[in-house]
Amino acid sequence: MSVRIAPSILSADFSRLGEEIGTVEAAGAHSIHVDVMDGHFVPNLTIGPVVVRSLRKVTKLPLDVHLMVTDPDHLIPEFARAGADHLTVHVEATNHLDRTLRMIRSLGKGVGVALNPATPVEAIQPVLGLVDLVLVMTVNPGFGGQVFIDYTEDKIRRLRGLLDSGGYRSRIQVDGGINLETLGRVVAAGAEVLVVGSAVFDSPDPGARVRELLEKSSVLGYHSRYV
Ligand code: DX5
Ligand code: ZN
Repeated sequence: MSVRIAPSILSADFSRLGEEIGTVEAAGAHSIHVDVMDGHFVPNLTIGPVVVRSLRKVTKLPLDVHLMVTDPDHLIPEFARAGADHLTVHVEATNHLDRTLRMIRSLGKGVGVALNPATPVEAIQPVLGLVDLVLVMTVNPGFGGQVFIDYTEDKIRRLRGLLDSGGYRSRIQVDGGINLETLGRVVAAGAEVLVVGSAVFDSPDPGARVRELLEKSSVLGYHSRYV
């Protein structure tokens, strides 16, 4: 199994976004995680398609767009046009998950489904064959810098079991409270794509922190993917 680091720009300096992204790209980040919040599904407001359009011009890395919005269907085409490579929607945010996931696929984008901490993995079992990525939220979505919720580790392990026993190839992504301390637990449980916000961008040297996270994965016996 390989471990990939997806820095979340939520904790970056928004006045220097291009520079911050260049730093983590040079350090070996796998993709750039973009947190979209609507002030309704989560109690915070962040980024719209216009920002994604600008980001598309400053990096070659895949843009991994995490939609924390209610009823995402009307926004998906706009984010797709703006240059998103992967679009992840919450199972709790749409009444017709199957339709939403197929819409993302029809636009030629990577398909992701996310679960809040208190949502059981069984909620997405029927759609495991439709997704490239399952995002297990390891904090309650809405803010960076929160503490990892311990019981989500068991959810990652159970999801790993469901994917492996069903022969599914979707990757497990984790998001929230991931740092040099919690990395070992989530990768041992079966996560492959680690979203890291504050642990990267609040550090004095974000590039060095990305390299440290990749090195830690290697030391633990996991292959770190630089591309
Ligand atoms: C939270 C977002 C995360 C956030 C993670 O709702 O989905 O992507 O940026 O931040 P950290 O790594 O600081 O917990
Ligand atoms: Zn996120």
